[in-house]
Amino acid sequence: MSSRLLERQKRSFDGLVDSGVYDADFDHAPAAKSFVGDVLRKVSPGLRQASLSVLDCGCGTGAWLAYLHEQLSHVGIKDPRLCGFDLSQRMVDVAQDKLSRLTEPADLRSGNVLEPRSYAFDGLEGGFDLIFTYDVVQQLPRGRQLDACRRIVAALAPGGLALIFDNDAETRFGRRMGLRKFLTRYCGLRLVPRYYCNAAYPALERIRQRLDGEAGMKARIMVRADGVKRAMVVERQGDVAQSSAAGTAERRDP
Ligand SMILES: C[S@@+](CC[C@H](N)C(=O)[O-])C[C@H]1O[C@@H](n2cnc3c(N)ncnc32)[C@H](O)[C@@H]1O
Repeated sequence: MSSRLLERQKRSFDGLVDSGVYDADFDHAPAAKSFVGDVLRKVSPGLRQASLSVLDCGCGTGAWLAYLHEQLSHVGIKDPRLCGFDLSQRMVDVAQDKLSRLTEPADLRSGNVLEPRSYAFDGLEGGFDLIFTYDVVQQLPRGRQLDACRRIVAALAPGGLALIFDNDAETRFGRRMGLRKFLTRYCGLRLVPRYYCNAAYPALERIRQRLDGEAGMKARIMVRADGVKRAMVVERQGDVAQSSAAGTAERRDP
């Protein structure tokens, strides 16, 4: 991804914070939260109960980390370590404010989903138990989206789980939105907010097919009832004892 494109993305999301589209009170729609909650409940039996480490890649204002904290506590997982990074420093500033009671300031910082060093957090050299990302893969050029997903799952601890939420370009909704973005960008019609046009929905099912079976990964897709949003759930198989993320804590049987 060229540095010019990265700079443009950074500026665009910094600008959305400065113009008030994103702030500490920003929250997701009920349908979005309910889908994330459903997915989390379904996968939670496979998560360790103690010392769970969570990473949100492209964490934005921290809205999802706050929600994950709440939802995990409903399934008995208390005090997870919450980490996040985002390309936009302005987003990170908001997240640090919003999550000041749940995280250490150093655990929220700027980073790029494509860069290995963005996944390095003190004490978590063995990887993360749960990696979450929402509408971030779509921010990358199509040619880098599989790389981004590979990078994300490579940061999992053995036995860890990645939840990659996005839309799929190759669905009815994906094609309709593609057309609306095209008409907004090139024909002057205001069918979607202008900044939507920078996002390219990934071909999520194709990415799933590529990841499934690669390096001990198992990948499946869960679909929201309205068919709009999808969660690609990637499990890294392996021996939990190798994870330095949580020392000697036990993982529950799935
Ligand atoms: C649509 S927003 C979603 C924010 C957050 N995930 C949420 O759902 O509330 C996309 C986010 O991805 C971030 N982003 C874009 N490109 C990125 C990259 N290469 N690495 C990390 N974050 C990125 C943006 O700065 C922005 O915060």
